[in-house]
Amino acid sequence: MARPVILVVDDDPGVRESFRLILEDHYDVFDVPDGPRALDVVGASQIDLVLLDIRLPGMDGIEVLERIKAIDEGIEVILVTAVKTVRTAVAAMKLGAFDYLTKPFEEEELLSLSRRALERRALEREVAFLRSELERAHDRDEIVGLHPVMGKLHALVAQVARTATTVLITGESGTGKELVARAIHRQGARRERPFVAVNPAAIAESLIESELFGHERGAFTGAHRRKLGRFELAQGGTLFLDEIGSLRPELQAKLLRVLQEREMERVGGTRAVRIDVRVIAATNSNLRQAVQREAFREDLYYRLNVIHLVVPPLRERGSDIPLLVEHFIRCGEREFNKRVDGLSPEALAALQAYGWPGNVRELKNVIERCLVLADGPIIQLNDLPLDVLLPQQVTKVRAAEALPLNEATDQFERQMVLRVLERVGWNLTEAGRILNVHRNSLRVKLARWGVRAPGAAR
Ligand SMILES: Nc1ncnc2c1ncn2[C@@H]1O[C@H](COP(=O)(O)OP(=O)(O)OP(=O)(O)O)[C@@H](O)[C@H]1O
Ligand SMILES: [Mg+2]
Repeated sequence: MARPVILVVDDDPGVRESFRLILEDHYDVFDVPDGPRALDVVGASQIDLVLLDIRLPGMDGIEVLERIKAIDEGIEVILVTAVKTVRTAVAAMKLGAFDYLTKPFEEEELLSLSRRALERRALEREVAFLRSELERAHDRDEIVGLHPVMGKLHALVAQVARTATTVLITGESGTGKELVARAIHRQGARRERPFVAVNPAAIAESLIESELFGHERGAFTGAHRRKLGRFELAQGGTLFLDEIGSLRPELQAKLLRVLQEREMERVGGTRAVRIDVRVIAATNSNLRQAVQREAFREDLYYRLNVIHLVVPPLRERGSDIPLLVEHFIRCGEREFNKRVDGLSPEALAALQAYGWPGNVRELKNVIERCLVLADGPIIQLNDLPLDVLLPQQVTKVRAAEALPLNEATDQFERQMVLRVLERVGWNLTEAGRILNVHRNSLRVKLARWGVRAPGAAR
């Protein structure tokens, strides 16, 4: 573990020297004589604790405190004051100072106070870290796939993770865009800082700006206290902006500014807050077309598009389906506390023949549903949902190499016909329409299978 870093701010060189002597054995110590230089240091390096004299020439300690907190709320600040300014010190604690120290002080007093402040800082980081660890329990973040396009994607993710550039991820809904974003974060230098995801399309229009950028107290009706936006919550880490195409124009402008200037203002705020966040944006719409329609800013598009990752739809990597199925069964077994060995060949063939418009998410849902409903160790064809067995897929299943058997085909046909009949309450005409066969041929089939409609006369 690196040694904690303390910054001493005091205009008296003698005082700075004595702080240094006391602290140097345990910590790395910087010292500066005034506020502006303190802010430079805080902005440029990782500072854990600031020992801040309240009475400074020029910018006073209270203002320096506020600015430090605006740069990074997690930095602890201990105010150092002469007895006469104790009241100011108390007020400052309301602004987020950890505690205050009255001059003159004992060496041990300074050391124990610093230790406690640094412990709190470490604890907060640990909580943030554990939270992110927890989120990735259950292999949730593993990108499963051996298809060549996925291999390429894996390599790109590893490459991109080593940089800090903005990334744009595109792909149909449910292909794993967020998973890819998390992988980039996890493999990069920011892995121990937060990964914050936000989907503007899922937030009420009027709240998006304050959700992203935060607001000051009194910024609008109902803003009772200052609130940090997602950008500030992601400080030092990664911000994942989902469905970026849905962002309205004035917010596109504000986002562009953060990306360019690395700073932003909270809603209702006047001071710029420095932002050190890697932005990963995702969309399932065609941004380039949106630019042509002038629905999306071109300059922002190019800013986001520094590196572009495309996550292919599941139907273009069908050979990964068995692996994914296996993965989701393993994850689901733990979640639903159920044991399943796998799928019957017919069921697997049906999954491979299906088009997966909802991509990997849809596959995951199907497997979870099967786990819940299946009553044997093997998931059978008739455990699959009807959607997956829709008629337009029949030809594909027949063509699948795994199913040349008349018997399997017949079984499959029977399953499907029965399911459709069940769904339409055994209305043969309606079932015939859905399956695109005449009701008479359904009658023939039913007779061949020896099946009668429930309640039908013998
Ligand atoms: N290659 C994969 N391996 C394992 N799980 C995957 C894979 N791809 C997607 N998933 C899982 O599928 C689900 C959907 O993935 P994700 O949320 O990343 O998709 P998305 O592209 O962001 O979707 P949307 O566009 O709808 O937001 C998640 O539960 C994710 O864990
Ligand atoms: Mg998503």
